[in-house]
Amino acid sequence: MRIGVDYYPEHWDPALWEKDADLMQKTGVELVRLAEFAWSRLEPEDGVFDFSWLDQAVSILEQRGMSVVLCTPTSCPPLWFYEKYPDSVMVEKDGSRTRTGIRGHRCISHPMVRAYSERIITRMAEHFRGRRIAAWQIDNELEAYHCFCPLCKDRFRAWLKNRYPSLPALNHAWGNSVWSGEYSSWEQVQPENGHYPEAWMNPSLMLEFSRFASDNVIEFVSWQADLIRRVCPGVPVTTNVWFSQYMPDFYREFSDLDFISYDNYPPTRLPDDPEACFSHAFHLDLMRGVKKAPFWIMEQLSGGMGCWAPMSRMPQPGMIRGYALQAFAHGADTVSFFRWRTATTGAEMHWHGLLDHSNVPGRRFDEFAGLCREAEGLRKLQGTRICSDVAVLCCFEDEYAFRIQPQTEGYYYLEQLQRLHRAFSSLGLNVDIISRDSDLDGYRIVCAPEMYIASEAVAARLEDFARQGGTVILTTRSGVKNMYNNAVMDLLPGVFRHLAGVHVTEYDPLGRDRVPVEFEDGTRTEAGQWCDLLETDGAHVLAHYAGEYFAGTPAVTENRFQDGRVLYIASVGAQVLYDHVARHAADQAGLSWIPDLPARVEVTTREGDGFTARFIFNHDAEPHRVHIGDEELLLQPFDMHIQML
Ligand code: GLA
Ligand code: ZN
Repeated sequence: MRIGVDYYPEHWDPALWEKDADLMQKTGVELVRLAEFAWSRLEPEDGVFDFSWLDQAVSILEQRGMSVVLCTPTSCPPLWFYEKYPDSVMVEKDGSRTRTGIRGHRCISHPMVRAYSERIITRMAEHFRGRRIAAWQIDNELEAYHCFCPLCKDRFRAWLKNRYPSLPALNHAWGNSVWSGEYSSWEQVQPENGHYPEAWMNPSLMLEFSRFASDNVIEFVSWQADLIRRVCPGVPVTTNVWFSQYMPDFYREFSDLDFISYDNYPPTRLPDDPEACFSHAFHLDLMRGVKKAPFWIMEQLSGGMGCWAPMSRMPQPGMIRGYALQAFAHGADTVSFFRWRTATTGAEMHWHGLLDHSNVPGRRFDEFAGLCREAEGLRKLQGTRICSDVAVLCCFEDEYAFRIQPQTEGYYYLEQLQRLHRAFSSLGLNVDIISRDSDLDGYRIVCAPEMYIASEAVAARLEDFARQGGTVILTTRSGVKNMYNNAVMDLLPGVFRHLAGVHVTEYDPLGRDRVPVEFEDGTRTEAGQWCDLLETDGAHVLAHYAGEYFAGTPAVTENRFQDGRVLYIASVGAQVLYDHVARHAADQAGLSWIPDLPARVEVTTREGDGFTARFIFNHDAEPHRVHIGDEELLLQPFDMHIQML
């Protein structure tokens, strides 16, 4: 495992740079990320470049054997740029321009943003070509923001013209006869509206605008990657992402990039609700699954977090090491900590780094130094693979569509994915989270929850998988929509009906109400948010509702599908429901799993040539005793134990 830090020489007196680099070297830091917000220092005036300070900082690090990650600073054009091109700032939903003086507010559709970005990226790449650059990072945490400036609206219309043969075809596809919404000219196509909730707008328009916003960012990323590669061929290029309201479609965003990088801030205070899906393993597995390859953490938790929100608790003893090794256990080969030292100025001065404002190394830094020493010993695991029998399918379009039309109170797309992921993870099984369009070869169990925007092609792939002996787990809200976000005129689960061997006669969006569910073996749990009332067409019942006016009707079913099986979960259950389904599916699929793992202990494996590394992580504030085979281990809070098998 390789350890890095995120460092901002432009924030500190140059007299500190060598001292910082000495301490980094002594501690075992190998990589330093630089410059993602430093445009005003790199180009203090229009066309006047000053790379000397960054040169010096890079040299200081290189001399000590460290490599750098250089970032394109396009998240923060300088204020002189906005003064020249005031219409390059993004426009909010209500038509107002975003305020300058923060960051990330440039509109990436603006031609001058592109022109100035191209110039500085090219100059930087030319200047630093040949130095010890481990990778380039494009921009910073690019999101698929919805910008409503005239340029973005034009680009959206051009994007639509490319997708639909004509305006009447678009009117038809979107069902624009509702509320007299038919367009008679392209100019009338207006994304969203300042005054009403999004749910009042046409869901087809809304989904297409979300897709466009994602494509717009993806195009920006690919465009930057080309610029860098033209000057610095052979140096890997990435961009760092996180989970936010406006996530681009990561599967497409990274298709043109060399590796995934993710900003990982696990909680420093564990939720009170023991059922809450808090393990960060879900996010890590999702990131690995984007390219099905080892990935980087570009920003890793270093201290208490605060700036927009009041400060969180500090990482408890064990968290600095434990969470970094957890990332490694799930496929991150490089972990870079955000940030070396806590800022003493600016809005993020309370988002803590490894070193506090005092610059005196303390408890967290000591733990970090220990981790660096340990990382040395883990070098042979670099590049090892994670092999999983279980996959969970994920789709960003569904995430957008559920956000556009919330189904019922408390319903959140990723929740069922997380619960299924957790259910299989709690059996000590590796779980991949992969794109709905991925190849399913090699998996034994594929969870396909909430396949909301469905297509025949996806259904056919799952049918093939089941026919060949695979187990598919489907859930409610599947087969509901076509690609235009319109409801299909079919009995649900629509295209998955044949596979599931059930159909929905009626549904009831329960919201916060709960209904008991009983499995055939007597296990009782509960469900809520949503209930499909099912009739079976060949499937048999594994659990039924035990309350409400639909008591006795199926809640979980299983259908034999040639050599395979298809389970259907008709509601959104408590964790126990998914745990029960996972154990049943794993047994039926003949997978061997670890019984009785404590709820907050994760076990994963990475495969090397001729060896397996097993990672046992207690992501709880309580110690836990773990039994694996004949072995008994006592794991302290946030402890990670690594075994070579
Ligand atoms: C994100 C950003 C960083 C910083 C941190 C913490 O991850 O990428 O620049 O803002 O959040 O605030
Ligand atoms: Zn715009």
